[in-house]
Amino acid sequence: MEEHLTVGRVAELAGVTVRTLHHYDEIGLVRPSSRTAVGYRAYTAGDVERLREVLAYRRLGFGLREIADLVDDPATDAVAHLRRLRGLLLDQRDRAAAMATAIDRELEARAMGIRTTPEEQLKVFGARLYDAIGSAYPATRRTEPRIAARIWDALGDARTVLNVGAGTGSYEPHDRDVTAVEPSAVMRAQRPAGAAPCVAAAAESLPFEDQSFDAAMAVSTVHHWADPVAGLREMRRVARRMVVLTYDADETGWAHRFWLIRDYMPEFAGLLVGWPSLADLAGAIGGRAEPVLIPWDCADGFFEAYWRRPEAYLDEHVRRAVSVWTRVGPQAERRAVSRLADDLSSGRWAERNREIVALDAVDLGLRLLVA
Ligand SMILES: C[S@@+](CC[C@H](N)C(=O)[O-])C[C@H]1O[C@@H](n2cnc3c(N)ncnc32)[C@H](O)[C@@H]1O
Repeated sequence: MEEHLTVGRVAELAGVTVRTLHHYDEIGLVRPSSRTAVGYRAYTAGDVERLREVLAYRRLGFGLREIADLVDDPATDAVAHLRRLRGLLLDQRDRAAAMATAIDRELEARAMGIRTTPEEQLKVFGARLYDAIGSAYPATRRTEPRIAARIWDALGDARTVLNVGAGTGSYEPHDRDVTAVEPSAVMRAQRPAGAAPCVAAAAESLPFEDQSFDAAMAVSTVHHWADPVAGLREMRRVARRMVVLTYDADETGWAHRFWLIRDYMPEFAGLLVGWPSLADLAGAIGGRAEPVLIPWDCADGFFEAYWRRPEAYLDEHVRRAVSVWTRVGPQAERRAVSRLADDLSSGRWAERNREIVALDAVDLGLRLLVA
């Protein structure tokens, strides 16, 4: 039998006042649609689902009118709401990380007696993660030719290619007609002279007609999108072939193999929570997943790139070009780096990682989705 909850019980569970619930009832936002045996209004499972959506949008700062439009939209089911809410929360988390980074910078500048300009102070509020960390990107992030060859091979005979989340364009093929999409102004500004034209947009809403490209590619970017599945569907809509370099977040055996996560950064697990499974991502484009090994001398300085060159992680330039370090926060970063430095000088790192040091390339969860 379906359980019905009283107003008092719902208020207690959700951590809101009974008055709030009465107000939502009065304005027709969430109406308890059942009655208890003694005639009081009671919430059904469906009412609770709607209330949960309302409270989550409220917490994200939406106004009640706006929320009413969102939850009444017949085209959006409960799963779509959860996906959208999850994306908005991650976006909020990234913005908070970007803001904290900008504040750290200002504190450092002030400590050196430098005052930031009014423009710089205000920019902090609109900061997106890559607007805050993007200027450090080109220092170590560039094309890794062996990975590029896999991507270009998978593009097949595509002549027109859309590169979504293009950044500075590290993996754009030079022998095809490429259009790039990149939401961060800082990243767009760092595209080299002569790079493909770049449109300011996000994956979740691509400003192109259906089937306007032979292929769409996305490299090391899907985990940054507010709604990865929606973004992949958009790519599918605008292109016939798809090539996506991403991570396998469900078979995380590789996380145990990667000593940086295993021994120094347990916080990494938190970044994967709620991340869509590889099957969900592959399902969104109807594609297959192929493992991509990371060579020991990988030229592109992404998070796992230095698995056989541990000293690299002690270098601030290496860390600043990888969002993971900003996302786990300065405390976790300081602790990880200082423990790693200790273990490298004591020989403990070498002792623990004898097996991996003997390899030339390793599977650390990188996957190429091709459809
Ligand atoms: C790690 S960089 C990868 C850049 C480039 N693809 C490469 O391989 O060098 C991730 C990029 O994704 C972009 N990005 C973040 N959210 C996005 C979104 N919703 N849609 C498209 N790109 C996004 C960031 O601005 C950033 O430039």
